[in-house]
Amino acid sequence: MSSRRSAATMLLTNQSLAVNHSDALVFFGATGDLAFKKIFPALQSMIKHGTLTVPVIGVAKQDWTIDQMRDRARASLEKHGGGVDELAFAKLIGLLRYVDGDYGDPATFEKLREELGTARRPAHYLAIPPVLFGTVVEGLGASGCANDARVIVEKPFGHDLLSAKLLNRTLHTVFPEPQIYRIDHYLGKDSVENLIFFRFANAFLEPIWNRNYVESVQITMAENFGVAGRGKFYDATGAIRDVVQNHLLHVIAFLAIEPPTLNYEEALRDELAKILRTMPPLSANHIVRGQFRGYTEEPGVDPESKVETFAAVRLEIDSWRWAGVPFVIRAGKNMPVTATEAIVKLRRPPLGSVQGRNYFRFRLGPDLAIGLGARIKQPGREMASQSVELSPVKIDHNDEMEAYERLLTDAMRGDKMLFVREDVVEAQWAVVEPILGNVTPVYQYEPGTWGPKEADKFADEVGGWHNPV
Ligand code: BG6
Repeated sequence: MSSRRSAATMLLTNQSLAVNHSDALVFFGATGDLAFKKIFPALQSMIKHGTLTVPVIGVAKQDWTIDQMRDRARASLEKHGGGVDELAFAKLIGLLRYVDGDYGDPATFEKLREELGTARRPAHYLAIPPVLFGTVVEGLGASGCANDARVIVEKPFGHDLLSAKLLNRTLHTVFPEPQIYRIDHYLGKDSVENLIFFRFANAFLEPIWNRNYVESVQITMAENFGVAGRGKFYDATGAIRDVVQNHLLHVIAFLAIEPPTLNYEEALRDELAKILRTMPPLSANHIVRGQFRGYTEEPGVDPESKVETFAAVRLEIDSWRWAGVPFVIRAGKNMPVTATEAIVKLRRPPLGSVQGRNYFRFRLGPDLAIGLGARIKQPGREMASQSVELSPVKIDHNDEMEAYERLLTDAMRGDKMLFVREDVVEAQWAVVEPILGNVTPVYQYEPGTWGPKEADKFADEVGGWHNPV
């Protein structure tokens, strides 16, 4: 059991969690895209790691048979699961059931109740659009399937602050907050968890990790592809809702939180809620929006769309530790590379010849690394400096659990630490609420570039953009 407790969890809580395993996993949206791309691969890995031994019940409305569901599982593993592991697949097929039915029809939930058999503590995973949450939650409640159950909910969690609150209210009609597991898959990434580990496990960091030494923080999340067939979804979403409100605010929060106390389960989530509430809501002059040329010709996208595929956002954290330090985020589709990096720059020492800055570079994806930027003397008679990066530590993550496997395993175990609590998700929406929609012009940029030049207005404050390679 403890082998799956991550190092950071160990660091951050010395309390042994009350483990209360789910005894069935139900996933709604079993024939959908998320199940195909992420859930079946996660299930196969869980079986390989011995963490999935309970019935798995897919639910959808496709008029499919169980054989079609099995074929779909195989196709998913071939395409997205690194291939079919025949032994694990045979076990998966042994556990897999399928319920076909309309989510609005009580008979669907009666069938589900039957399939659950003797299971008493199922986990229900809603891999479905949020508009269907209410119907499914109601069906689960009325049929008794929600008794002693957990619910796992996918992002996007709401469209703005009000809709997030309404969604929370809907879920709470049937599931109390401690039974709700909201997914932000960035919290399932080792590289993101490592941010808090690195900060609090190294004595050299804490004395300088504040406004007295840190001059700026910048995060770039670049993707070298466009909307990849998700035009309809993306055009209703945009970069702020898609990755800033959730993934990137979490990255900032992990870089900035106070050390959680070591002795209670909610310590980390309490600190996350606190730091997010300390970020003043953004306003129009804190954002520059961009759209890659050609976006409006993508299938599913409104030809007149003003939705952003790039956003640069400058925010602050109004705390004793961080007051006055700029935190700048850049996120965009169709940029030159796919890479996510955070750069924490330190202030310049009072030595005339030293112009550059020390920095910490956290590469969060697709590969993991930590680098430390330093200044050394240029060879020769001059006392001039040059910048080097002390050999970056590249972290081998071949064995890294894929985020979905990690999160599903944790949810089944009843470990809530890496799931988004109600107050956290609402605090995130409150930060971005004033910059949602067409609050500023959207500037075009060429695919394969670093976004519109207008975003450079935030560059000076962070000592120029750092473009990951
Ligand atoms: C998803 C977004 O949440 O995160 C996608 O909807 C984005 O648009 C993806 O591409 C990035 O995730 P990762 O794990 O590939 O960095």
